[in-house]
Amino acid sequence: MMDTRRHLRGIGDLDRAALERLLDLTDHMAEVGRRANPKVPALRGRTMCNLFFEDSTRTRMSFDTAAKRLSADTMTLAVGSSSVNKGESLRDTVETLGAMGVDAFVVRHRSSGVPWRIAEWTEASVINAGDGWHQHPTQALLDLYTIRSERARRLGEDAGFEGLRVGVIGDIRHSRVARSLTEALGLLGAVVVHIGPRTLMPPTPLARSTDDLDGELEDLDVVYLLRMQNERMDAALIPSGEEYTRRFALDPQRAGRLGEHVLVMHPGPMNRGVEITVDPTTLPGAVVTTQVTNGIAARMAVLFDLLGGVETEVSA
Ligand code: ASP
Ligand code: CP
Repeated sequence: MMDTRRHLRGIGDLDRAALERLLDLTDHMAEVGRRANPKVPALRGRTMCNLFFEDSTRTRMSFDTAAKRLSADTMTLAVGSSSVNKGESLRDTVETLGAMGVDAFVVRHRSSGVPWRIAEWTEASVINAGDGWHQHPTQALLDLYTIRSERARRLGEDAGFEGLRVGVIGDIRHSRVARSLTEALGLLGAVVVHIGPRTLMPPTPLARSTDDLDGELEDLDVVYLLRMQNERMDAALIPSGEEYTRRFALDPQRAGRLGEHVLVMHPGPMNRGVEITVDPTTLPGAVVTTQVTNGIAARMAVLFDLLGGVETEVSA
C-alpha cells in the first residue's frame, strides 16, 4: 500500500515550491492570529502530540498554541515524569501514545535522526522540533517568514530572497538552526556566509565561511546570531568565552555599523553577554520577539498542511 502520510523531518522534505507554499500559508495564519478571536475550526477532530525529550520554551509552547488556534486537540508527554523513567523505550512510548489516536507527533530529541525513526513506527505525521545538531525545520520556516514579512514592511516591497546576504554567526558546528536555515535560504536563492571560530565551522558547499566578522558586517542584509551550544560542546573548541565575545558578539560598536535596513535575528534562548552584549530592544533592526510571534503562524501552517486542514475553515 502506498504511504500517503507526510512529514516535516528536515528541510530536505521540501522543495522550493513547497517552501514558498508554506510561507504563503504562514502569511494566512498570521492574519488569523491578528483577529479578535484568533481561532478557526480547520483541524477539529485532529490530535497533535508534543514529545519533547529536550528542553524547550518557544517551540513547545508555540506548537501547542498553533494546534489550539486550529481547534486541534493536544497531548503533551511530560517526559521527565513519564514511564520513560521506568525504562520504556522510545519505540514503545511512541506506539503507546499512537494507540491513543495521534495524527501528528511533534518531536524534539538530543539524537540526530530520531524523527525519521519515529516515522517508521507510527501511522501519524512526524514534525521535527529539533534533533541533536541536525535539523530544526520549523525554526527555519519562521525565520524565513520573518525576513520576508519584515523586509516587505520596512522596505515597502516583497523583494524576495534572491541575492539576500545573510550572515549566520557563532557556533555553526553544533547548531541545527544554522543547518536548517542555511539549507532553506539556499533553496530560495539567498547568499549565506557562516561567521565564527574556525573550530566551530564544518565545511559546507551551501555557505562561504570566515572568522572575520568585522570584515563582513557592512555587507550583510541579515545578522543571525546563534547561541553557543554548551550542552553539545564535548571539548574546549574555543580558547575562552571572553575572546569569543570580543571577536563574535554583537556589541554596541558593531551594532552601530549596521545599515538601517539590516535585520538582527536570534532563534532564542539568548545568552546575553556572550553572543550579544547590546540590548536588542534598542536596535531598530532587531526582530527577535517578532520571530517568536511568527513561530505560532509558521507552526499553524505546517500542522494545517500536513493534517489536511479544511481551507474554507480558515477564511474570515
Ligand atoms: N532553541 C534553538 C534550538 O533548540 C536554538 C538554541 O537552543 O540555541 O536549537
Ligand atoms: N528557538 C527555539 O527552538 O527555542 P526553544 O529551545 O525555547 O524551543
